[in-house]
Amino acid sequence: MQFQAKNFPALKNDNLLRAARGEAVDRVPVWVMRQAGRYLPEFKEVRAEADFFKVCRTPELAVEVTMQPIRRFELDASIIFSDILVIPQALGMTVEMRPGHGPVFPEPLESTQDIAKLTPNGAVERLQYVGDALTLMRHTLEGKVPLFGFTGAPWTLMGYMVEGGGSKTMSKSRAWLKDHSDESRKLLNLLTDVCVDYLIMQIKNGAQILQIFESSAEYITKEEFIEFALPCLKDIRVKLHEKIEKEGIEKVPLVVFAKGAMHSLAEMTELGYDVIGLDWSIDPEEARKIVGPNVTLQGNLDPQDLYKTPDEIRQLTKTMVNKFGKNRYIANLGHGITPATPIISMTTFVDAVHSAFDN
Ligand code: CP3
Repeated sequence: MQFQAKNFPALKNDNLLRAARGEAVDRVPVWVMRQAGRYLPEFKEVRAEADFFKVCRTPELAVEVTMQPIRRFELDASIIFSDILVIPQALGMTVEMRPGHGPVFPEPLESTQDIAKLTPNGAVERLQYVGDALTLMRHTLEGKVPLFGFTGAPWTLMGYMVEGGGSKTMSKSRAWLKDHSDESRKLLNLLTDVCVDYLIMQIKNGAQILQIFESSAEYITKEEFIEFALPCLKDIRVKLHEKIEKEGIEKVPLVVFAKGAMHSLAEMTELGYDVIGLDWSIDPEEARKIVGPNVTLQGNLDPQDLYKTPDEIRQLTKTMVNKFGKNRYIANLGHGITPATPIISMTTFVDAVHSAFDN
């Protein structure tokens, strides 16, 4: 192997891991979904030279873009540069990232018969480049902040695989849930098992905390979420903990972020994740009331607020952080940062989080 997943530098700033575990923190930790991205000119420079998935597959390039926001901002975590759609690729599907358009699958799953064409055997081995990037990143970070690994959740992955890319309605994949529910479950279970093995591989290669992105929960009803998405999120947590125990590997905190599923916070609390990510549709105090005291909350500033003036951003951030409180809280946006966000907004947001409880 090219990089050794051992003898990692000691972690200097463990506030985020402490918050995830419910321990006291020196200051509220903060990171931002999509913190490596097109709002950074240095990211655009790398992307001008290399295709999106080439960056993902080349550990040196993935580490370079993962480091970019860490160099610029006082963030309390890094998240490995990759994409949720590397799983469908490892299952044999072609995925292209078209500039100005987003991900495209030239041959999506057209019928439930196509599930049989997927290649779960060896899928995680084909994703070893993500493991290599994690390992190189841990060495490159020199213990500055912890490193997130992540995966897309089964329903979100299924949506992209059936729609053939992003969709405003997810109507094809929702029709699968309705008209072919057993076959849909078969696909969701296949994806669940791949996610579990993929996350285990990420821990072994250096991930110190893991986030499961159920970004497409917003397209389905509460009933569909409870029937199809939630059982997979539960299975991932349970099976991951079983494997961690069985293989005697390090237990890392788990974050579940189901965008648009704030209707099911009570149900999500039962899943046994350490951290629940909130989108911006819910008030922090309301969320805390629903989940109770024993889970950490993450979120949830509206990404659009970063287009306001620094004074307004400071004020909105302070109000948010005060509502969440200092403990069992990780500050973030309620979804990914958007490409036209001014860099000063990020600096302002991060500083406002860190100074929220200063006198
Ligand atoms: O957060 C990070 O900094 C880590 C990197 C990361 C990316 N994608 C890089 C990326 C992470 C965690 C993701 C996850 C991801 N990918 C999700 C779940 C999170 C979310 O935001 O909901 C989803 C749904 C995807 C699928 C995906 N990838 C879409 C829909 C798009 C196009 C959207 C867009 O903004 O254009 C991508 C592309 C993508 N993934 C970009 C980045 C930085 C931008 C594309 C580029 O560089 O050309």
